[in-house]
Amino acid sequence: MRRGLQLGLLVCGVIVAGLAGYWLWWALEGRPEQGRPAVGGPFELLDGEGRKVTERDFRGRHMLVYFGYTFCPDVCPTTLFNASQALDEIGPALASRVRLVFISVDPERDTPEVVKEYAGHFHAGTVGLTGAPEQVTAAARSFRIYYRKAAPEEDGDYLVDHSSILFLMDGEGRYVTHFSHEATADDMAAALKRLL
Ligand code: NI
Repeated sequence: MRRGLQLGLLVCGVIVAGLAGYWLWWALEGRPEQGRPAVGGPFELLDGEGRKVTERDFRGRHMLVYFGYTFCPDVCPTTLFNASQALDEIGPALASRVRLVFISVDPERDTPEVVKEYAGHFHAGTVGLTGAPEQVTAAARSFRIYYRKAAPEEDGDYLVDHSSILFLMDGEGRYVTHFSHEATADDMAAALKRLL
């Protein structure tokens, strides 16, 4: 019975992930006739000091935007670490033109203090953002990011399923390209050198 339930949940999870992937594909590549993919847009979130931050605060600088959560055991820290290493590789002059921006999809646990502390583990200048649940939902929606809190374990801990995509946005907040979680620091550095 329990195994059947688990299998059912797994199948559901795969279907949901597949749909989320299709949605992202559609947003990124499915409508070439309209030019740039419809990814990114206005957002209103809170920074590590609890101050209001919008996409306009990043104008004039490229953004590497990543949605995740600080309790994430593997994919989030790996992607942010690779991005940080890529920024080291391209050197301080180019790197100063980019902000690595981490946006939490787990605002329940990721308070401004928590995202600030977390951002401090990555490239200098990395910005951690969070917000009220509705603000986070709106920001994730504008970047076509899927996320869903998994059922808590007995000790109350929980995972959050989420799309793992690192977006490069230009100084006007427009989509330039994206990297999957499989992209290496070298891949990212090469792309940044070409595109910045
Ligand atoms: Ni993660």
